[in-house]
Amino acid sequence: MSDTPSTSDTLTDFASEPAATRRVVVLISGSGSNLQALIDEQTHDRLGGEIVAVISNEPAAHGLARAREAGIDAVALPHREYDSREAYDGALIKVIERHEPDLIVLAGFMRILTPRFVQRFLGRVLNIHPSLLPAYQGLHTHARALADGVVEHGCSVHFVTEELDGGPVVIQAAVDVAEGETETSLKEKVHAREHLIYPIAVKWFLEGRLQFAPRGATLDGMPLPPQGVRLSHADAAEELDEE
Ligand code: GRF
Repeated sequence: MSDTPSTSDTLTDFASEPAATRRVVVLISGSGSNLQALIDEQTHDRLGGEIVAVISNEPAAHGLARAREAGIDAVALPHREYDSREAYDGALIKVIERHEPDLIVLAGFMRILTPRFVQRFLGRVLNIHPSLLPAYQGLHTHARALADGVVEHGCSVHFVTEELDGGPVVIQAAVDVAEGETETSLKEKVHAREHLIYPIAVKWFLEGRLQFAPRGATLDGMPLPPQGVRLSHADAAEELDEE
């Protein structure tokens, strides 16, 4: 032992204590390609935390297999076994809380959440939506955008509030609508952008850089604009090595 005063020992011990790993629970209903994008980041130690459980309301969801494959606890909680939305969300809250998450990530979870659920986890739930919010809240966003003849579409990550697809936006990625674009081709391009921006938003949150405030989200303590951080078509295309 050196002759360093004991107070320094205490400080050294304190400084070397590892920070607790941030815990993430992901909710899905289907394929889980966004879940896969998050798993891939985790595999490369780039997520800033750990996905501790994946929960699906659809027992046959392919995303559950993706979770098992990655060694993540995969839980089927079928909504059809519950009489009401309130009863289901009550059960969902219990399963989620058992995993003590810092963050809940909705990745294609096709259910409307009750106010009780939203309030319980307010500020700790992110969702990804296939449009440049506030445009095209709700379903069938690609078809609606094409029918309107828009020149630009995209996706958004936002905090979940009681307003469906209406919480503060964190990050968006835009895509130019090409000549002869079909719903399938547009969906594919938007999906690729989803896989790009969702891990970024999750990492910001887990690193403590991203925070919810009722009037908007903040990044590094600065209020984000209504559209969040915006990735242009060109930026995203370069990241994705698109033609
Ligand atoms: C995505 O398009 C997402 O924007 C929406 O649901 C879909 C989920 O796709 N919320 P996947 O299951 O992640 O492939």
